Amino acid sequence: MLQWENLRAVKMTDLIIVGAGGHGKVVADIAQKQKRWKAIMFLDDRFPELSSVFNLPVVAQLSHINCFQTENTDFVVAIGDNQTRLVWSNKIIEQGLSLVSVIDPSAVISHSAQIGAGTVILPNVVINADAFLGIANIINTSAVVDHDCQLCEGVHLSPGAILGGSVTLGSCCWIGISVSVKQGACIGANTIVGVGAAVVNDLPDNIVAVGVPAKEISMNKL
Ligand SMILES: CC(C)(COP(=O)(O)OP(=O)(O)OC[C@H]1O[C@@H](n2cnc3c(N)ncnc32)[C@H](O)[C@@H]1OP(=O)(O)O)[C@@H](O)C(=O)NCCC(=O)NCCS
Repeated sequence: MLQWENLRAVKMTDLIIVGAGGHGKVVADIAQKQKRWKAIMFLDDRFPELSSVFNLPVVAQLSHINCFQTENTDFVVAIGDNQTRLVWSNKIIEQGLSLVSVIDPSAVISHSAQIGAGTVILPNVVINADAFLGIANIINTSAVVDHDCQLCEGVHLSPGAILGGSVTLGSCCWIGISVSVKQGACIGANTIVGVGAAVVNDLPDNIVAVGVPAKEISMNKL
């Protein structure tokens, strides 16, 4: 059992959330529930006009990230755009800063699943055995990632999306609200699957697909 003196010796870190928009607020909510950080604050390019969100301070613009070279600060990037989130997450890693995942306590995650740094997992998510999630993913509210799925980096799985077993998602792909993906399907990098689609075959890189079954409607112009 920890004694009070030992507890005081534990160094608690701060959490800096990069991006104070809608997704930033969601990440802050989850981080506060985790009770793991001494203080939580934001970086956002609207600083100094934007000085707080909820009761949490916005302390600087994104370009000032270099000023936080401290071993007692964790970072997570809460920017909805997949490419931008991945770029900033990689900058944090390259600078030797601590990029952390933020996971809602209600999520059910297999002990054999691997969750990459900077990945955010929202309420009521289920991640099953041997799933692998790369860095800087968003696994949104009530999404399901079944066994042996492989999610690359910068992926966004929207609310209520369901991946059957052994699905592969390429870098920065965006799976819309309530999409279902058949077991074993592969979806390419930078591909968007629209709300409500059912993916039953593989989809290539850089397309937008919608419908049941999902079909390409255009290229993803990024
Ligand atoms: C697929 C998507 C990216 C297309 O967006 P877009 O490029 O702006 O396309 P548009 O809205 O101009 O629609 C183009 C056509 O596709 C149709 N379409 C768009 N989304 C569709 C969908 N999900 N299912 C079926 N048809 C769809 C439109 O009705 C339109 O058809 P039309 O040309 O016959 O009128 C977008 O509709 C979508 O589903 N985004 C995901 C949103 C999401 O999940 N958000 C999560 C937030 S957490």
